[in-house]
Amino acid sequence: GLPRLYDPGFATTAAYSSSITFIDGGKGILRHRGYPIEQLVDKVGFDELSYLLIFGALPTAYNLALWQQAQSQRVTLPTCVRSVITAFSPSAHPMSILIAALSAMSASRTSLNPAYSGQTVYSDAAGRREAIVTCMSAMPVIVAAIYRHTAGLPIFSASAVPHKQSFATRFLHMLNGGDQSKSLANTLDILLMLHADHEQNCSTSAVRHLSSSGVDIFSSMCGGVAALYGPLHGGACESVLRMLTRIGNVDNIPNFLERVKRRQERLMGFGHRIYKNYDPRARIIQQEARRVFEVVGTVDPLIQVATELERTALQDDFFVQRKLYPNVDFYSGIIYKAMGFEPQFFPVLFALGRSAGWIAHWNEFLDDPDRRIARPHQLYIGVKGPRDVPDVTQR
Ligand code: CMC
Repeated sequence: GLPRLYDPGFATTAAYSSSITFIDGGKGILRHRGYPIEQLVDKVGFDELSYLLIFGALPTAYNLALWQQAQSQRVTLPTCVRSVITAFSPSAHPMSILIAALSAMSASRTSLNPAYSGQTVYSDAAGRREAIVTCMSAMPVIVAAIYRHTAGLPIFSASAVPHKQSFATRFLHMLNGGDQSKSLANTLDILLMLHADHEQNCSTSAVRHLSSSGVDIFSSMCGGVAALYGPLHGGACESVLRMLTRIGNVDNIPNFLERVKRRQERLMGFGHRIYKNYDPRARIIQQEARRVFEVVGTVDPLIQVATELERTALQDDFFVQRKLYPNVDFYSGIIYKAMGFEPQFFPVLFALGRSAGWIAHWNEFLDDPDRRIARPHQLYIGVKGPRDVPDVTQR
């Protein structure tokens, strides 16, 4: 039939129903399964949040221990995944490597069992749980291997990874080995939580869209990472840092904002499809940034540029009229930089946190009685025809 509604960028239509995350963009409210993000960040860690998102309830102490143990037991990379990662130049963008590594993960599973190429294997509870745990465990192992390869370091040995630790501590251990600073692990844990889920953002809806075709979870996640890579989505945290570095000092802010208003630039880390108020995640991140600088003992001059840029923009009619506020990515890059990460690695850390949301939405979608293959309509605006095909000499 004919399309009933033309809705570029899905600005007004709901394609899915979900019980995972509630956002009121006008009021700046974010809740996961009814719990406000502020309370979650205060009272639980990423492992509890990932469990809540995926399984629908906060874990008991026993379930939390099982969840952490199940993940920390699987730290060996399949050989083909390791080979794919190391085949890339260390200067390749880590998001591209991550997409390839997840595809290799899918390939390694289908070579074990051809049933893994589709969703039939997930129709029983055991198959579903195996996929969830494999996915949650594989992400930090793959990301750490990419980190080490792109830093010119040998990939860590699986036997060295501590068991029964939190996701963030295990991940930091896989990056650097040795004892981890508790404070940096806490900061990473908070950033992972703030990135964990945000309902039908571009990458999560990409994961749902792809899995609607019946493809396996790892192939769907490739699409999620690819969508997240873009500068308007997860790539924004990298772009913000590059933007702040380019601005360089507070005296250049007025000129920069003029260019934004002339539409020669975008103010990266500002604006959101849903939030027409302060992004609650940005508020938490801003406080965390101050705490990190207390811990590392120095303050990045870029924080001054960011603070002043935010203050000036929030007073400017252009931003006020369009209800443009800082989003989660405005300050996250500054923290990742203080933690010692290179800008191109920021979106990979975003993907690491968001993988919990992707898996939760995938899991929920598989049980959705309304699930159908995602297949939008289009408005055809080309030549109606029919035209006769001219001979090559007549074109
Ligand atoms: N800088 C300058 N102008 C902006 C910005 C911005 N960052 N964001 C929106 N606008 C303007 C836009 O030009 C438009 O004005 P006009 O109506 O005069 O043409 C108006 O505000 C509405 O913008 P839109 O592009 O229609 O909004 P959207 O909902 O399609 O896009 C967005 C949302 C996040 C892609 C956009 O705000 C943006 O590009 N922001 C910068 C990139 C960014 O920070 N992305 C991270 C988003 S949050 C985390 C995540 O999802 O990963």
